[in-house]
Amino acid sequence: MPYKKKILIILSVVAIMAICQCTKMETTENVNDEASFDLPTKMNQGKQSLIEQGKEIFRFDAFGDEDFWSGLLHIDKAILGEANGGYGPGVSPNTALAVGLKVDADALPPEVVAGITSGDISLDDPKSTIALLRLNAVVGVKGNFDPGGTTLQSIGITCASCHSTVDNSFTEGVGKRLDGWPNRDLNVGAIVSLTDNALPIANMLHVSEPDLRNILSLWGPGKYPAILFMDGQAFRPDGKIAANLIPAAFGLKGIDLTTYTGWGDISYWNSFVANLEMHGKGNFSDPRLNDPKYPIAVENHFYNVVNNPDLITSKLPALRAYQHSLDAPKPPANSFNQAAAAKGKAVFLTKAKCASCHALPLYADNILHTADEIKIDDFEARRSPTGMYRTTPLGGLFAKSKGGYYHDGRFSSLADVVNHYNDNMSLNLTTKEKQDLVEFLKSL
Ligand code: HEC
Ligand code: HEC
Repeated sequence: MPYKKKILIILSVVAIMAICQCTKMETTENVNDEASFDLPTKMNQGKQSLIEQGKEIFRFDAFGDEDFWSGLLHIDKAILGEANGGYGPGVSPNTALAVGLKVDADALPPEVVAGITSGDISLDDPKSTIALLRLNAVVGVKGNFDPGGTTLQSIGITCASCHSTVDNSFTEGVGKRLDGWPNRDLNVGAIVSLTDNALPIANMLHVSEPDLRNILSLWGPGKYPAILFMDGQAFRPDGKIAANLIPAAFGLKGIDLTTYTGWGDISYWNSFVANLEMHGKGNFSDPRLNDPKYPIAVENHFYNVVNNPDLITSKLPALRAYQHSLDAPKPPANSFNQAAAAKGKAVFLTKAKCASCHALPLYADNILHTADEIKIDDFEARRSPTGMYRTTPLGGLFAKSKGGYYHDGRFSSLADVVNHYNDNMSLNLTTKEKQDLVEFLKSL
Protein backbone atom coordinates (compact mmCIF):
# COMPACT_ATOMS: atom_id res chain seq x y z
CA MET A 1 0.00 0.00 0.00
CA PRO A 2 1.37 3.46 -0.83
CA TYR A 3 2.66 5.21 2.29
CA LYS A 4 0.32 8.19 1.92
CA LYS A 5 -2.75 5.99 1.67
CA LYS A 6 -1.70 4.06 4.72
CA ILE A 7 -1.37 7.28 6.72
CA LEU A 8 -4.79 8.42 5.51
CA ILE A 9 -6.37 5.18 6.63
CA ILE A 10 -4.67 5.37 10.02
CA LEU A 11 -5.81 8.96 10.39
CA SER A 12 -9.42 8.12 9.58
CA VAL A 13 -9.39 5.23 12.04
CA VAL A 14 -8.04 7.58 14.70
CA ALA A 15 -10.71 10.14 13.82
CA ILE A 16 -13.48 7.57 14.02
CA MET A 17 -12.13 6.35 17.34
CA ALA A 18 -12.04 9.93 18.61
CA ILE A 19 -15.63 10.53 17.51
CA CYS A 20 -16.73 7.31 19.23
CA GLN A 21 -14.88 8.46 22.34
CA CYS A 22 -16.80 11.76 22.34
CA THR A 23 -20.17 10.10 21.89
CA LYS A 24 -19.23 7.76 24.70
CA MET A 25 -18.36 10.68 26.94
CA GLU A 26 -21.61 12.40 26.13
CA THR A 27 -23.64 9.32 26.93
CA THR A 28 -21.73 8.90 30.16
CA GLU A 29 -22.51 12.46 31.16
CA ASN A 30 -26.17 12.06 30.27
CA VAL A 31 -26.29 8.90 32.28
CA ASN A 32 -24.76 10.75 35.20
CA ASP A 33 -27.63 13.18 35.22
CA GLU A 34 -30.32 10.54 35.23
CA ALA A 35 -30.50 7.46 37.41
CA SER A 36 -29.64 4.29 35.54
CA PHE A 37 -28.99 0.63 36.23
CA ASP A 38 -25.19 0.30 36.15
CA LEU A 39 -24.60 3.85 37.32
CA PRO A 40 -21.41 3.33 39.37
CA THR A 41 -19.34 1.98 36.45
CA LYS A 42 -20.56 4.62 34.05
CA MET A 43 -19.98 7.35 36.58
CA ASN A 44 -16.45 6.15 37.12
CA GLN A 45 -15.82 6.27 33.38
CA GLY A 46 -17.06 9.84 33.24
CA LYS A 47 -14.93 10.79 36.19
CA GLN A 48 -11.91 9.02 34.77
CA SER A 49 -12.12 10.94 31.53
CA LEU A 50 -12.48 14.25 33.38
CA ILE A 51 -9.41 13.36 35.45
CA GLU A 52 -7.51 12.37 32.30
CA GLN A 53 -8.42 15.66 30.67
CA GLY A 54 -7.33 17.50 33.80
CA LYS A 55 -3.98 15.70 33.74
CA GLU A 56 -3.35 16.85 30.16
CA ILE A 57 -4.29 20.41 31.08
CA PHE A 58 -2.17 20.39 34.25
CA ARG A 59 0.85 19.08 32.36
CA PHE A 60 0.63 20.63 28.93
CA ASP A 61 -1.83 23.55 28.75
CA ALA A 62 -0.33 27.02 28.71
CA PHE A 63 -3.73 28.74 28.30
CA GLY A 64 -2.26 31.08 25.70
CA ASP A 65 0.38 32.41 28.10
CA GLU A 66 2.94 32.23 25.26
CA ASP A 67 2.13 35.88 24.51
CA PHE A 68 3.56 36.77 27.90
CA TRP A 69 6.51 34.37 28.27
CA SER A 70 7.61 34.60 24.63
CA GLY A 71 5.85 37.60 23.13
CA LEU A 72 6.72 39.94 25.97
CA LEU A 73 9.58 38.35 27.92
CA HIS A 74 11.27 36.55 24.96
CA ILE A 75 12.17 33.53 27.11
CA ASP A 76 12.04 31.37 23.95
CA LYS A 77 14.80 33.52 22.43
CA ALA A 78 16.84 33.27 25.62
CA ILE A 79 16.58 29.46 25.43
CA LEU A 80 17.64 29.44 21.76
CA GLY A 81 20.65 31.67 22.34
CA GLU A 82 22.39 33.81 19.76
CA ALA A 83 23.75 30.79 17.86
CA ASN A 84 20.22 29.60 17.13
CA GLY A 85 18.51 32.89 16.31
CA GLY A 86 17.86 34.14 19.85
CA TYR A 87 20.04 36.19 22.20
CA GLY A 88 22.66 35.46 24.83
CA PRO A 89 24.39 32.14 25.47
CA GLY A 90 21.18 30.05 25.28
CA VAL A 91 19.89 27.58 27.82
CA SER A 92 21.56 24.15 27.67
CA PRO A 93 19.94 21.16 29.38
CA ASN A 94 22.54 21.49 32.14
CA THR A 95 21.60 25.16 32.66
CA ALA A 96 17.90 24.24 32.64
CA LEU A 97 18.51 21.56 35.26
CA ALA A 98 20.55 24.00 37.31
CA VAL A 99 17.61 26.40 37.57
CA GLY A 100 15.46 23.48 38.70
CA LEU A 101 13.65 22.52 35.52
CA LYS A 102 12.96 18.78 35.28
CA VAL A 103 13.00 16.33 32.38
CA ASP A 104 10.35 13.64 31.90
CA ALA A 105 12.31 10.45 31.20
CA ASP A 106 9.19 8.72 29.83
CA ALA A 107 9.08 11.23 26.98
CA LEU A 108 12.58 10.30 25.80
CA PRO A 109 12.80 7.75 22.98
CA PRO A 110 15.46 5.02 23.41
CA GLU A 111 17.85 6.67 20.94
CA VAL A 112 17.81 9.89 22.95
CA VAL A 113 18.41 7.99 26.18
CA ALA A 114 21.31 6.21 24.47
CA GLY A 115 22.65 9.50 23.12
CA ILE A 116 22.58 11.12 26.55
CA THR A 117 24.19 8.08 28.17
CA SER A 118 26.97 7.90 25.57
CA GLY A 119 27.52 11.64 25.58
CA ASP A 120 26.65 11.95 21.87
CA ILE A 121 23.86 14.33 22.87
CA SER A 122 25.60 17.19 24.61
CA LEU A 123 23.85 18.49 27.70
CA ASP A 124 25.83 21.72 27.32
CA ASP A 125 24.29 22.64 23.97
CA PRO A 126 21.07 24.73 23.81
CA LYS A 127 20.19 22.73 20.68
CA SER A 128 19.65 19.72 22.95
CA THR A 129 17.17 21.74 25.03
CA ILE A 130 15.28 22.54 21.86
CA ALA A 131 15.22 18.82 21.03
CA LEU A 132 13.84 18.08 24.52
CA LEU A 133 11.17 20.74 24.07
CA ARG A 134 10.22 19.17 20.74
CA LEU A 135 9.71 15.88 22.60
CA ASN A 136 7.54 17.69 25.18
CA ALA A 137 10.01 16.40 27.77
CA VAL A 138 10.73 19.57 29.78
CA VAL A 139 8.26 19.39 32.66
CA GLY A 140 5.98 22.44 32.69
CA VAL A 141 7.48 24.12 29.64
CA LYS A 142 5.56 23.84 26.41
CA GLY A 143 7.44 24.49 23.18
CA ASN A 144 5.51 25.44 20.06
CA PHE A 145 7.20 24.62 16.77
CA ASP A 146 6.48 25.44 13.13
CA PRO A 147 4.50 22.75 11.32
CA GLY A 148 7.71 21.14 10.09
CA GLY A 149 8.88 20.86 13.69
CA THR A 150 12.22 22.56 13.09
CA THR A 151 11.88 26.09 14.47
CA LEU A 152 10.94 26.89 18.05
CA GLN A 153 8.34 29.63 17.72
CA SER A 154 7.34 30.21 21.30
CA ILE A 155 7.21 28.65 24.75
CA GLY A 156 4.53 28.74 27.39
CA ILE A 157 4.50 27.52 30.97
CA THR A 158 2.03 25.11 32.52
CA CYS A 159 0.92 24.28 36.06
CA ALA A 160 3.43 21.41 36.08
CA SER A 161 6.41 23.79 36.03
CA CYS A 162 5.83 24.63 39.69
CA HIS A 163 3.61 21.78 40.88
CA SER A 164 5.38 18.71 39.45
CA THR A 165 8.81 17.27 39.85
CA VAL A 166 10.45 13.96 38.84
CA ASP A 167 11.74 10.98 40.82
CA ASN A 168 15.36 11.38 39.57
CA SER A 169 15.33 7.72 38.47
CA PHE A 170 17.39 8.40 35.33
CA THR A 171 19.69 10.99 36.82
CA GLU A 172 19.32 14.04 39.07
CA GLY A 173 16.48 16.10 37.55
CA VAL A 174 15.51 13.44 34.99
CA GLY A 175 12.94 10.77 35.81
CA LYS A 176 9.27 9.91 36.04
CA ARG A 177 6.82 12.72 36.63
CA LEU A 178 5.52 13.27 40.14
CA ASP A 179 2.48 15.50 39.63
CA GLY A 180 1.35 17.55 42.59
CA TRP A 181 4.77 17.49 44.24
CA PRO A 182 6.04 21.04 44.56
CA ASN A 183 9.18 21.72 42.55
CA ARG A 184 11.33 23.12 45.36
CA ASP A 185 14.33 23.34 43.03
CA LEU A 186 12.67 25.59 40.50
CA ASN A 187 14.18 29.06 40.49
CA VAL A 188 11.38 31.08 38.94
CA GLY A 189 13.24 34.34 39.57
CA ALA A 190 16.30 33.11 37.66
CA ILE A 191 14.10 32.01 34.76
CA VAL A 192 12.24 35.32 34.55
CA SER A 193 15.52 37.20 34.67
CA LEU A 194 16.59 35.52 31.42
CA THR A 195 14.41 38.15 29.76
CA ASP A 196 15.97 40.96 27.73
CA ASN A 197 12.78 42.94 28.24
CA ALA A 198 12.37 43.35 31.99
CA LEU A 199 11.17 46.95 31.81
CA PRO A 200 7.43 46.24 31.41
CA ILE A 201 7.47 44.14 34.60
CA ALA A 202 9.58 46.73 36.43
CA ASN A 203 7.13 49.43 35.36
CA MET A 204 4.19 47.36 36.46
CA LEU A 205 5.71 47.01 39.92
CA HIS A 206 6.94 50.63 39.95
CA VAL A 207 10.58 49.69 40.48
CA SER A 208 13.67 50.30 38.37
CA GLU A 209 14.96 47.51 36.18
CA PRO A 210 18.04 46.90 38.37
CA ASP A 211 15.75 46.75 41.43
CA LEU A 212 13.52 44.24 39.67
CA ARG A 213 16.51 42.09 38.77
CA ASN A 214 17.65 42.24 42.39
CA ILE A 215 14.21 41.14 43.59
CA LEU A 216 14.16 38.26 41.09
CA SER A 217 17.56 37.11 42.34
CA LEU A 218 16.33 37.02 45.95
CA TRP A 219 13.29 34.70 45.59
CA GLY A 220 15.52 31.63 45.44
CA PRO A 221 14.68 28.03 44.56
CA GLY A 222 11.21 26.67 45.28
CA LYS A 223 9.66 30.06 46.00
CA TYR A 224 7.40 32.46 44.21
CA PRO A 225 5.53 35.54 45.46
CA ALA A 226 2.08 35.39 43.85
CA ILE A 227 0.70 38.36 45.77
CA LEU A 228 3.57 40.68 44.77
CA PHE A 229 1.73 41.15 41.46
CA MET A 230 -1.33 42.37 43.36
CA ASP A 231 0.05 44.57 46.15
CA GLY A 232 3.58 45.35 44.97
CA GLN A 233 5.14 44.37 48.30
CA ALA A 234 8.43 42.74 47.39
CA PHE A 235 9.88 42.81 50.89
CA ARG A 236 8.62 41.91 54.34
CA PRO A 237 8.63 44.54 57.10
CA ASP A 238 11.87 43.01 58.45
CA GLY A 239 13.55 43.81 55.11
CA LYS A 240 13.78 40.21 53.96
CA ILE A 241 12.44 39.17 50.56
CA ALA A 242 8.76 38.19 50.56
CA ALA A 243 8.26 34.91 48.68
CA ASN A 244 6.26 31.83 49.53
CA LEU A 245 7.22 28.20 49.12
CA ILE A 246 5.55 26.51 46.17
CA PRO A 247 2.99 24.31 47.92
CA ALA A 248 1.86 20.80 47.04
CA ALA A 249 -1.05 20.38 44.66
CA PHE A 250 -1.76 16.91 46.10
CA GLY A 251 -3.84 15.99 49.14
CA LEU A 252 -6.29 18.86 48.58
CA LYS A 253 -9.50 16.86 48.26
CA GLY A 254 -11.76 17.99 51.10
CA ILE A 255 -9.82 21.21 51.64
CA ASP A 256 -12.30 24.08 51.22
CA LEU A 257 -9.96 27.04 51.02
CA THR A 258 -6.70 26.96 49.09
CA THR A 259 -3.45 28.91 49.46
CA TYR A 260 -1.60 29.65 52.70
CA THR A 261 -4.05 32.40 53.46
CA GLY A 262 -7.27 30.91 52.09
CA TRP A 263 -7.89 33.14 49.07
CA GLY A 264 -10.65 30.87 47.78
CA ASP A 265 -11.58 27.36 46.69
CA ILE A 266 -9.43 25.35 44.33
CA SER A 267 -11.13 26.44 41.11
CA TYR A 268 -11.06 30.08 42.17
CA TRP A 269 -7.33 29.84 42.76
CA ASN A 270 -6.60 27.80 39.64
CA SER A 271 -8.29 30.51 37.61
CA PHE A 272 -6.45 33.24 39.54
CA VAL A 273 -3.08 31.65 38.78
CA ALA A 274 -3.80 30.78 35.16
CA ASN A 275 -4.97 34.33 34.43
CA LEU A 276 -2.96 36.60 36.70
CA GLU A 277 0.32 34.75 37.32
CA MET A 278 0.89 32.60 34.25
CA HIS A 279 -0.79 35.29 32.12
CA GLY A 280 -2.97 32.82 30.26
CA LYS A 281 -6.02 34.11 28.44
CA GLY A 282 -9.27 33.65 30.28
CA ASN A 283 -11.96 35.43 32.19
CA PHE A 284 -11.47 36.18 35.85
CA SER A 285 -13.21 38.42 38.25
CA ASP A 286 -12.84 39.12 41.95
CA PRO A 287 -14.11 42.45 43.27
CA ARG A 288 -11.93 41.98 46.37
CA LEU A 289 -8.93 42.90 44.20
CA ASN A 290 -10.45 46.28 43.38
CA ASP A 291 -9.13 47.65 46.64
CA PRO A 292 -6.38 50.22 47.40
CA LYS A 293 -4.65 47.40 49.31
CA TYR A 294 -3.88 45.92 45.86
CA PRO A 295 -2.61 48.89 43.83
CA ILE A 296 -1.01 46.77 41.09
CA ALA A 297 -4.20 44.75 40.65
CA VAL A 298 -6.29 47.93 40.52
CA GLU A 299 -4.04 49.62 37.93
CA ASN A 300 -4.02 46.55 35.72
CA HIS A 301 -7.72 45.70 36.19
CA PHE A 302 -6.87 42.24 37.52
CA TYR A 303 -10.21 42.30 39.35
CA ASN A 304 -11.98 41.88 36.02
CA VAL A 305 -10.08 40.17 33.23
CA VAL A 306 -11.91 39.41 29.99
CA ASN A 307 -10.52 37.52 27.03
CA ASN A 308 -12.28 36.27 23.97
CA PRO A 309 -11.95 33.35 23.53
CA ASP A 310 -11.65 32.36 27.19
CA LEU A 311 -9.04 29.58 27.22
CA ILE A 312 -9.32 28.88 30.95
CA THR A 313 -12.83 28.73 32.46
CA SER A 314 -14.06 25.62 30.64
CA LYS A 315 -10.97 23.72 31.83
CA LEU A 316 -11.46 24.37 35.54
CA PRO A 317 -13.69 21.35 36.35
CA ALA A 318 -11.17 18.94 34.77
CA LEU A 319 -8.23 20.68 36.47
CA ARG A 320 -9.96 20.37 39.83
CA ALA A 321 -10.84 16.72 39.21
CA TYR A 322 -7.21 15.94 38.44
CA GLN A 323 -5.83 17.75 41.47
CA HIS A 324 -8.43 16.11 43.69
CA SER A 325 -7.36 12.72 42.31
CA LEU A 326 -3.81 13.31 43.55
CA ASP A 327 -3.57 11.81 47.03
CA ALA A 328 -0.76 12.86 49.30
CA PRO A 329 2.10 10.38 48.72
CA LYS A 330 3.18 8.01 51.49
CA PRO A 331 6.79 8.25 52.69
CA PRO A 332 9.09 5.22 52.25
CA ALA A 333 8.65 2.88 55.24
CA ASN A 334 12.33 3.14 56.18
CA SER A 335 12.36 6.95 56.19
CA PHE A 336 11.16 7.26 59.79
CA ASN A 337 11.17 5.29 63.03
CA GLN A 338 7.85 3.43 63.16
CA ALA A 339 7.75 2.85 66.91
CA ALA A 340 8.61 6.47 67.68
CA ALA A 341 6.03 7.65 65.12
CA ALA A 342 3.31 5.62 66.85
CA LYS A 343 4.19 7.30 70.16
CA GLY A 344 4.37 10.65 68.39
CA LYS A 345 0.85 10.22 67.11
CA ALA A 346 -0.42 10.03 70.68
CA VAL A 347 1.48 13.22 71.51
CA PHE A 348 0.03 14.90 68.39
CA LEU A 349 -3.53 13.98 69.38
CA THR A 350 -3.34 14.74 73.08
CA LYS A 351 -0.62 16.64 74.92
CA ALA A 352 0.56 18.76 71.96
CA LYS A 353 -3.03 19.55 70.86
CA CYS A 354 -1.95 19.59 67.19
CA ALA A 355 -5.13 17.86 66.06
CA SER A 356 -7.23 20.73 67.36
CA CYS A 357 -6.27 22.42 64.07
CA HIS A 358 -4.66 19.60 62.06
CA ALA A 359 -7.75 17.44 62.50
CA LEU A 360 -7.81 13.90 61.14
CA PRO A 361 -8.24 12.55 58.50
CA LEU A 362 -6.97 15.52 56.45
CA TYR A 363 -4.74 16.90 59.19
CA ALA A 364 -6.51 20.20 58.58
CA ASP A 365 -9.67 21.79 59.96
CA ASN A 366 -10.94 23.96 57.11
CA ILE A 367 -10.88 26.89 59.51
CA LEU A 368 -8.71 29.97 59.11
CA HIS A 369 -6.59 31.10 62.04
CA THR A 370 -5.20 34.43 63.13
CA ALA A 371 -1.46 35.01 63.18
CA ASP A 372 -1.67 35.22 66.95
CA GLU A 373 -3.20 31.73 67.19
CA ILE A 374 -0.14 30.23 65.52
CA LYS A 375 2.24 32.74 67.13
CA ILE A 376 3.75 34.28 64.04
CA ASP A 377 3.63 37.74 62.41
CA ASP A 378 0.58 38.71 60.36
CA PHE A 379 2.36 40.19 57.30
CA GLU A 380 1.31 37.49 54.83
CA ALA A 381 -2.15 37.09 56.38
CA ARG A 382 -2.84 40.80 55.96
CA ARG A 383 -2.02 40.56 52.25
CA SER A 384 -4.97 38.19 51.80
CA PRO A 385 -8.61 39.33 51.75
CA THR A 386 -9.13 36.89 54.64
CA GLY A 387 -6.49 38.42 56.95
CA MET A 388 -5.78 34.91 58.26
CA TYR A 389 -3.72 31.77 57.79
CA ARG A 390 -5.14 28.45 56.66
CA THR A 391 -4.18 25.22 58.45
CA THR A 392 -1.86 23.36 56.08
CA PRO A 393 -2.87 19.72 55.50
CA LEU A 394 0.09 17.63 56.66
CA GLY A 395 -0.11 14.59 54.35
CA GLY A 396 3.05 13.91 52.32
CA LEU A 397 5.21 16.32 54.34
CA PHE A 398 8.29 14.35 53.25
CA ALA A 399 7.62 15.42 49.64
CA LYS A 400 7.84 19.10 50.57
CA SER A 401 10.65 19.12 53.05
CA LYS A 402 13.07 21.04 50.83
CA GLY A 403 13.07 24.77 51.54
CA GLY A 404 11.61 24.57 55.01
CA TYR A 405 8.14 24.80 56.53
CA TYR A 406 5.39 27.39 56.94
CA HIS A 407 4.41 29.62 54.04
CA ASP A 408 7.79 31.29 53.67
CA GLY A 409 9.98 28.40 54.81
CA ARG A 410 10.88 30.19 58.04
CA PHE A 411 11.39 26.90 59.91
CA SER A 412 14.16 24.88 58.34
CA SER A 413 13.28 21.56 59.99
CA LEU A 414 10.32 19.75 61.52
CA ALA A 415 12.14 19.95 64.86
CA ASP A 416 12.11 23.74 64.52
CA VAL A 417 8.35 23.67 63.83
CA VAL A 418 7.74 21.53 66.90
CA ASN A 419 9.95 23.76 69.05
CA HIS A 420 8.02 26.79 67.82
CA TYR A 421 4.72 25.31 68.99
CA ASN A 422 6.25 23.97 72.20
CA ASP A 423 7.82 27.29 73.19
CA ASN A 424 4.98 29.59 72.16
CA MET A 425 2.03 27.47 73.22
CA SER A 426 3.54 26.29 76.53
CA LEU A 427 3.15 22.63 75.63
CA ASN A 428 5.88 21.44 78.05
CA LEU A 429 6.89 18.60 75.76
CA THR A 430 9.88 16.53 76.86
CA THR A 431 12.82 16.05 74.48
CA LYS A 432 11.61 12.51 73.84
CA GLU A 433 8.04 13.63 73.08
CA LYS A 434 9.34 16.23 70.64
CA GLN A 435 11.45 13.61 68.88
CA ASP A 436 8.50 11.22 68.65
CA LEU A 437 6.30 13.99 67.30
CA VAL A 438 8.84 14.70 64.54
CA GLU A 439 8.94 10.99 63.61
CA PHE A 440 5.14 11.03 63.40
CA LEU A 441 5.19 14.08 61.11
CA LYS A 442 7.74 12.30 58.89
CA SER A 443 5.34 9.33 58.65
CA LEU A 444 2.40 11.34 57.27
C1 HEC B 1 5.31 30.05 39.05
C2 HEC B 1 4.96 28.92 39.87
C3 HEC B 1 3.51 28.47 39.87
C4 HEC B 1 2.74 28.10 38.80
C5 HEC B 1 3.10 28.11 37.33
C6 HEC B 1 1.49 27.65 39.35
N1 HEC B 1 1.52 27.75 40.71
FE1 HEC B 1 0.10 27.09 41.97
N2 HEC B 1 1.06 27.99 43.53
C7 HEC B 1 2.29 28.59 43.46
C8 HEC B 1 2.56 29.25 44.72
C9 HEC B 1 3.82 30.00 45.11
C10 HEC B 1 1.42 29.05 45.53
C11 HEC B 1 1.20 29.57 46.96
C12 HEC B 1 0.37 30.84 46.91
C13 HEC B 1 0.26 31.50 48.26
O1 HEC B 1 -0.50 31.01 49.11
O2 HEC B 1 0.98 32.48 48.46
C14 HEC B 1 0.51 28.23 44.75
C15 HEC B 1 -0.69 27.72 45.23
C16 HEC B 1 -1.46 26.80 44.55
C17 HEC B 1 -2.55 26.06 45.12
C18 HEC B 1 -2.99 26.08 46.56
C19 HEC B 1 -2.39 24.92 47.32
C20 HEC B 1 -2.89 24.81 48.72
O3 HEC B 1 -2.20 24.24 49.57
O4 HEC B 1 -3.98 25.31 49.00
C21 HEC B 1 -3.08 25.30 44.11
C22 HEC B 1 -4.24 24.35 44.22
C23 HEC B 1 -2.32 25.59 42.92
N3 HEC B 1 -1.34 26.50 43.21
C24 HEC B 1 -2.61 25.06 41.67
C25 HEC B 1 -2.02 25.53 40.49
C26 HEC B 1 -2.51 25.24 39.16
C27 HEC B 1 -3.71 24.36 38.83
C28 HEC B 1 -1.69 25.87 38.29
C29 HEC B 1 -1.84 25.98 36.80
C30 HEC B 1 -3.08 26.60 36.38
C31 HEC B 1 -0.66 26.53 39.09
N4 HEC B 1 -0.92 26.33 40.41
C32 HEC B 1 0.42 27.21 38.58
C33 HEC B 1 3.13 28.56 42.36
C34 HEC B 1 2.72 28.26 41.07
C1 HEC C 1 -4.16 27.03 66.04
C2 HEC C 1 -4.10 26.06 64.96
C3 HEC C 1 -2.87 25.18 64.87
C4 HEC C 1 -2.34 24.35 65.82
C5 HEC C 1 -2.81 24.13 67.26
C6 HEC C 1 -1.22 23.68 65.20
N1 HEC C 1 -1.07 24.11 63.91
FE1 HEC C 1 0.34 23.51 62.62
N2 HEC C 1 -0.27 24.92 61.30
C7 HEC C 1 -1.34 25.77 61.47
C8 HEC C 1 -1.35 26.74 60.41
C9 HEC C 1 -2.38 27.85 60.24
C10 HEC C 1 -0.25 26.45 59.59
C11 HEC C 1 0.21 27.24 58.34
C12 HEC C 1 1.25 28.26 58.78
C13 HEC C 1 1.97 28.94 57.65
O1 HEC C 1 2.08 28.37 56.55
O2 HEC C 1 2.49 30.03 57.85
C14 HEC C 1 0.40 25.31 60.18
C15 HEC C 1 1.54 24.69 59.65
C16 HEC C 1 2.13 23.56 60.17
C17 HEC C 1 3.23 22.86 59.57
C18 HEC C 1 3.95 23.25 58.28
C19 HEC C 1 3.41 22.53 57.09
C20 HEC C 1 4.11 22.93 55.82
O3 HEC C 1 3.98 22.20 54.83
O4 HEC C 1 4.77 23.98 55.79
C21 HEC C 1 3.53 21.80 60.38
C22 HEC C 1 4.60 20.75 60.14
C23 HEC C 1 2.62 21.85 61.50
N3 HEC C 1 1.78 22.93 61.35
C24 HEC C 1 2.62 20.95 62.55
C25 HEC C 1 1.93 21.16 63.71
C26 HEC C 1 2.15 20.42 64.94
C27 HEC C 1 3.17 19.32 65.10
C28 HEC C 1 1.31 20.94 65.86
C29 HEC C 1 1.21 20.57 67.33
C30 HEC C 1 2.42 20.79 68.09
C31 HEC C 1 0.55 22.00 65.22
N4 HEC C 1 0.96 22.10 63.94
C32 HEC C 1 -0.42 22.75 65.85
C33 HEC C 1 -2.25 25.71 62.50
C34 HEC C 1 -2.05 25.03 63.68
